[in-house]
Amino acid sequence: MKPSIIVSLALPLALAALPAAGAKSQKPPVKQTAPAAAAAEDKDATTAEFEKFREVMEDSNPAELFEMKGEELWNEKRGPKQVSLAESCDLGLGIGVVKGAYVQTPRYFADVDQVMDVERRIVHCMVEHQGFKREDIAKKPFSNDTHTPEPVSLVTYVASQSKGMKIAIPQKHPKEIETYRIGAEVFQYRAGPYDFSCATCHGADGKRIRTQQLPNLTKPQGAIKSYLGWPGYRMTGGVMHTLQWRMNDCFRQQRFPEPGYVSDSVTALLSYLGVNSNGYTYKGPGIKR
Ligand code: HEC
Repeated sequence: MKPSIIVSLALPLALAALPAAGAKSQKPPVKQTAPAAAAAEDKDATTAEFEKFREVMEDSNPAELFEMKGEELWNEKRGPKQVSLAESCDLGLGIGVVKGAYVQTPRYFADVDQVMDVERRIVHCMVEHQGFKREDIAKKPFSNDTHTPEPVSLVTYVASQSKGMKIAIPQKHPKEIETYRIGAEVFQYRAGPYDFSCATCHGADGKRIRTQQLPNLTKPQGAIKSYLGWPGYRMTGGVMHTLQWRMNDCFRQQRFPEPGYVSDSVTALLSYLGVNSNGYTYKGPGIKR
């Protein structure tokens, strides 16, 4: 089936299941005595409804279509050099190995003497091994309703191959340790017209913007939210996004200039968030509001 077909099936469902924005005071009809009720009461109606809906949806997640597309792209001989990524690209565990690669990046790659996150590494492989032009890939790196960039499908496929595995981002090489430290600094760095840092919105428990809960990304229980469910099929707009997009969109919310595509600062942030999530089990590509 074509992605557009499933998406058009999935979306009306999504909209039907979500209460209208601003329906904060309507509590879900839960029995006060049920053990789950207390927990549900803590959340507002929108969040609770969305989470119920997500559980149902994750059994038939539209992300699977992007995984399939990504798998094709991984195995096909492509680009000016007519080489496949499967026969040329090392994501850190050996050429062509995708199993477990997602939960072990960002990591140090000796061939470039650099720490790279998975999307950056995939783009690197597309340029170096397949002969695609970096500028062409960077022109439109994020999904919209008519276009899903190839790296997005590729990352989604690679991520799906780490489903059920523990996040284990290495901190052995000095550059891995340094990258984490830089990420921690970027996270705390306040600037811009509002003097915001990532920590302004994500550095304490229980913060929210309207109906959206903001995870505390400085603690493991919150940091794991930065890995779980990403790459994610985003109901708003019905598109697939990776963490590269999430980072850029949060820089935008921070009123900072957006970083260039697959840049050092994004790798550093992903290293910070990822290492803080180490030890948790990754559940594969997910669904986001
Ligand atoms: C002005 C407030 C604000 C700032 C500053 C901000 N974010 Fe966010 N962030 C949000 C909102 C809103 C969401 C979406 C929450 C949702 O959809 O439930 C979000 C979501 C996220 C998520 C995904 C969490 C999830 O549950 O999927 C990550 C990771 C993240 N931000 C990281 C960052 C980083 C890193 C920075 C600094 C570069 C940053 N944010 C700066 C408001 C902010």
